[in-house]
Amino acid sequence: MPDSTDAVTTPTPRRNPKPKVTTIAGRELKPSTLMMGHGFDPALSEGSLKAPIFLTSTFAFENSAAGKRHFEGITGKRPGGAEGLVYSRFNGPNQEILEDRLAIWDGAEDALSFSSGMTAITVMMLAYCNHGDVIVHSGPLYAATEGFVAKVLSKFGITYIDFAAGATRAELDGVLAKAKEQANAQGGKVAMVYLESPANPTNALVDVQAVRDARDAVLDADGTPIAIDNTFLGPLWSRPLDHGADVVVYSLTKYVGGHSDLVAGSIAGAKRWINPVRALRNTMGGIADPNTAWMLLRSLETVELRMQRAGENAAKVCAFLKDHPKVDGLGYLGFIDDPRQQDIYNRHCSGAGSTFSLFVKGGEAEAFRFLDAMKIAKLAVSLGGTETLASCPAAMTHLSVPDDRKAQLGITPNLVRISIGIEDPDDLIADFDQALAAV
Ligand SMILES: Cc1ncc(COP(=O)(O)O)c(C=O)c1O
Repeated sequence: MPDSTDAVTTPTPRRNPKPKVTTIAGRELKPSTLMMGHGFDPALSEGSLKAPIFLTSTFAFENSAAGKRHFEGITGKRPGGAEGLVYSRFNGPNQEILEDRLAIWDGAEDALSFSSGMTAITVMMLAYCNHGDVIVHSGPLYAATEGFVAKVLSKFGITYIDFAAGATRAELDGVLAKAKEQANAQGGKVAMVYLESPANPTNALVDVQAVRDARDAVLDADGTPIAIDNTFLGPLWSRPLDHGADVVVYSLTKYVGGHSDLVAGSIAGAKRWINPVRALRNTMGGIADPNTAWMLLRSLETVELRMQRAGENAAKVCAFLKDHPKVDGLGYLGFIDDPRQQDIYNRHCSGAGSTFSLFVKGGEAEAFRFLDAMKIAKLAVSLGGTETLASCPAAMTHLSVPDDRKAQLGITPNLVRISIGIEDPDDLIADFDQALAAV
């Protein structure tokens, strides 16, 4: 058969992306197993066990007919969409393998990778929102996300309503009804519900099931997706798609990357929610680069091990800190004292994570003495890396937040934010012990 005929039926196809084995004797293989090979066939890369880094800006078509068919798919002149790879702003082999593997962790149909968590969040919001629409979001959000909604989307006539992370079903019903009225008055719709759980640095959890029930009762379930930033607990300790979210969002910079050596982001969900974001990513760019995607593939092979160890370490460190005389309190999901928050935790989380707030007895001076005395923990913002990090939000990440908002969120000068790594837990306890002695 001539090449051109072949190409018309199988135009520059995505080469054998299907995993050979996802079940054995009816047993579905776990994500930790699939991270070693899913979506990559060594036979297509000279037998290379690991995926090479595909540094190319464009991909060669088999022939002209295949090129035409590709663009017919992209432009909608032919149903079924485009297949295969054409240009690296749209996608590449490393990113496709990464996206397939990310989708597995959250039980999602599809996933997209981005150059940062903020690129993922902003491209997604722009894809879902039109002029006159309203975003409903939990609060507080990561400051850059909150700023994007309030200061950037507002330039395009998109407004927002927020609610406190721990809101009840009745409160959520009220907020969504108000958002609907606001959208009607603006000639738009409620474009999306955006959640972040647990909230930073309060650690308040959002009841995703209640948000889903409220959305289904008050709004158009088909038209208003619920997206959630799962950076603090995902992908191991929380799977929000199982509890009613439609799209899960990550800063892969944190636990997934896990070594504090890259910046990236992702979203995952059903194709119907992912496709519009993919189309805008194709236009705007913002996909993770091949080298970063490759590093994330390596990170995904150990993400479960790293998160388990960090979680166990955090539990030991927090048990030590709990009744320490120089400690005023802990914001740690392993020690929740509010029954409603505990109920959400029991329904939504399988682990308390390794990021928490430590309230040092005293004020800023005491917090600074503690931070400056730490010998193992590094003084840096961010979280989810192999190393323990500590920072003081009131004086650093949240310095520009107005004082009354800080007070409302419980961001006091003595709050130290800790992300526990995978060091030896007794070494970490020794470090916290000597640093508290220096306060
Ligand atoms: C919860 C959360 N979401 C999103 C982001 C933004 O991610 P990135 O820094 O990868 O853009 C961060 C960064 O700290 C974060 O903590």
